[in-house]
Amino acid sequence: MKNMIIPIFFLFSLLFSSSLGSIQDFCVADYSAPQGPAGYSCKDPAKVTVDNFVYSGLGVPGNTTNIIKAAVTTAFDNQFPGVNGLGISLARADLAACGVIPFHTHPGASEVLIVIEGTLCAGFVSSANNVYLKSLNKGDVMVFPQGLLHFQLNAGNTSALFFVGFNSPNPGLQLLDFALFKNDLPTELVAAASFLSPAEIKRLKAVLGGTG
Ligand SMILES: *[C@@H]1O[C@H](CO)[C@@H](O)[C@H](O)[C@H]1NC(C)=O
Ligand SMILES: *[C@@H]1O[C@H](CO)[C@@H](O)[C@H](O)[C@H]1NC(C)=O
Repeated sequence: MKNMIIPIFFLFSLLFSSSLGSIQDFCVADYSAPQGPAGYSCKDPAKVTVDNFVYSGLGVPGNTTNIIKAAVTTAFDNQFPGVNGLGISLARADLAACGVIPFHTHPGASEVLIVIEGTLCAGFVSSANNVYLKSLNKGDVMVFPQGLLHFQLNAGNTSALFFVGFNSPNPGLQLLDFALFKNDLPTELVAAASFLSPAEIKRLKAVLGGTG
């Protein structure tokens, strides 16, 4: 008897989840209302068109004339209404020679990267402070677990291009150096809270546009 309970439970959970699935096929973002923790509310399905499920922004290389010599172009739910509610999103990264996507985290998603052009040095640091570092070539795929600090560096002499997918339509992005130096938190507090020297903090505030 006990052996029967588990298959019956699975059958019911399958029926239940497929009936839930049939209620609503999609939830295209309605930008007229603010975004909440669960995403945007759903656009009236009668007004949804195929163009809501298509995004062309990732076909255009980003401008890498900047301090990091790199550009990230996102197709998150705030640009691409079709991914709202689907648990997925995408971005492209262009890196000039010596370009870097500096240490950052995505609080809301794990990331999967595929190299399209060039050679990368990519890595992440676990919460046990172990480093997982790899040289990646065209076609290589690497995953970066949710919330962990990671970076991607162009390790070649030519430009590099990679795409990343996320298991959230709104992965979030926090750049470590920007959090530390691109704001008005007083230098002495940054120094006390980070063990960095005030001179280095002031140098990086000047480079990144922070004050204090
Ligand atoms: C790229 O960005 C730089 C610096 O902001 C700017 O001077 C340049 O015109 C931009 N290039 C293009 C093609 O938009
Ligand atoms: C980059 O160029 C230098 C000098 O031309 C060369 O020694 C090096 O092997 C090149 N590196 C790669 C990854 O192509």
